[in-house]
Amino acid sequence: MFRLAPILSLLAVPAAAQHGYYFVLGTGMPVTIERLDPLLSDGKTPSQHVHSVVGGNGFAATMDYAQTQTSNCSTVQPIADKSNYWMPILYFQDPNNGSFIRVPEQPYHKIYSLLDKYGTSSNTYDTSIQEFPQEFRMIGGDATLRAENDTLMGPYGSGLEWFCHGNGTTEFPDISAVGFPTGFTACPNGFAASITLPSCWNGDDFNPSNPSAHMAYPTADGIDGCPETHRVARFPQIFVEYWLNIDTFDGLYTADDSPFVLTMGDATGYGFHVDFINGWESGALNATMPTCTPGNTGNPPLSDPTCFGNHGGIYTDDEIADCLLQPTTTEATGWTYPEIDNPQGGALTHGGVLSALPGCQTITKGPDRAVLTTCNETSPTTEGEVVQTDEVGVCNFD
Ligand SMILES: *[C@@H]1O[C@H](CO)[C@@H](O)[C@H](O)[C@H]1NC(C)=O
Ligand SMILES: *[C@@H]1O[C@H](CO)[C@@H](O)[C@H](O)[C@H]1NC(C)=O
Ligand SMILES: *[C@@H]1O[C@H](CO)[C@@H](O)[C@H](O)[C@H]1NC(C)=O
Ligand SMILES: *[C@@H]1O[C@H](CO)[C@@H](O)[C@H](O)[C@H]1NC(C)=O
Ligand SMILES: *[C@@H]1O[C@H](CO)[C@@H](O)[C@H](O)[C@H]1NC(C)=O
Ligand SMILES: *[C@@H]1O[C@H](CO)[C@@H](O)[C@H](O)[C@H]1NC(C)=O
Repeated sequence: MFRLAPILSLLAVPAAAQHGYYFVLGTGMPVTIERLDPLLSDGKTPSQHVHSVVGGNGFAATMDYAQTQTSNCSTVQPIADKSNYWMPILYFQDPNNGSFIRVPEQPYHKIYSLLDKYGTSSNTYDTSIQEFPQEFRMIGGDATLRAENDTLMGPYGSGLEWFCHGNGTTEFPDISAVGFPTGFTACPNGFAASITLPSCWNGDDFNPSNPSAHMAYPTADGIDGCPETHRVARFPQIFVEYWLNIDTFDGLYTADDSPFVLTMGDATGYGFHVDFINGWESGALNATMPTCTPGNTGNPPLSDPTCFGNHGGIYTDDEIADCLLQPTTTEATGWTYPEIDNPQGGALTHGGVLSALPGCQTITKGPDRAVLTTCNETSPTTEGEVVQTDEVGVCNFD
């Protein structure tokens, strides 16, 4: 079993909130890895590209708020949070033979909820921030991007960043870039992507054919800090760190190589994205945001009554580690249920070698936007029907 606590010291801090008003939802490993996407490929099994999913085990091909509430475990700490958060997984493409090997994840992805006055480090709760409506969903980032764009990725956008964490030596320094960095042959303290999701809402529902339209990024404090077009509500700003362990590939690439590919064929890293579907217990965020202030000190802990103590508390590390959902799709993705990557135990599993990316995704290097290809994406039998599986989820407690 891995523990979240020993590695909390490694957490990076979002630039806009160095000392700000926020809490961090520790997460364990993904609850599942499969080609499913209830936001953009509603009901399709499989969907277009493979995702790593954290959060509740109610995750399904078609989802609404009620479906999130069927979760009986989660890989995110607060019991009140039955949301799902999902992102494309990363493959290592061997520069010598072209094979794809899934990059193992580290069991400490982080989800931050930023409640600070925007960028002012004032340590005050922005009272214009309110909880997500029940059926709320959104995407941060864009799977089709293959080039840097400061409007979309800069400080008033997603703030996308990839980070090779060195070990303080001149041979292995920290190296970061908006897309995949190069110039390293190991990242001894991990490889990570970080991204901020938008938080200003125009009141509309999520529209799969224009997925970013209903949301915008703030540029200043308060509801007036949202663009005029998006002032119906301002939500906590979600910032996600997605951690990977590339040690198993040391020696297989040189500093000039860029051997990483996101599952939608993105060899640049600019297409990294995170999807969110709200599953927070109604009232929990409104009640806790004004008082839950751990910031980067972790004090008070998330289990405190000022945080989630009065809203179910938090899952134990063992409960998080044991929360796994059997994939509804059966293809090889490089992850085999119920395998768990365990870098801390020294066992780096990667679930086999693939000769091609799942879903026939072709590799694109930009700078033009990619047109995502698809094969064997299946349509739902009934529009809007929740896909039922025999096995809702398995949470084996020790
Ligand atoms: C390609 O090389 C990797 C090691 O990087 C190895 O695991 C894989 O089996 C090789 N693929 C083939 C088809 O031999
Ligand atoms: C960046 O993205 C914005 C919004 O999509 C677009 O209007 C702009 O042309 C892009 N800039 C570049 C340099 O591609
Ligand atoms: C830094 O990391 C490299 C690559 O993993 C390793 O060979 C080296 O021993 C490390 N140095 C220190 C001082 O930890
Ligand atoms: C949360 O608070 C906002 C006002 O700040 C209110 O509009 C909304 O209805 C509240 N939501 C719940 C579920 O209490
Ligand atoms: C999808 O199509 C590819 C290529 O035709 C095939 O290799 C793969 O087995 C198919 N996967 C599923 C789940 O049908
Ligand atoms: C969650 O529900 C499933 C399916 O009913 C059940 O097998 C499992 O034991 C439950 N887990 C917990 C932690 O209650």
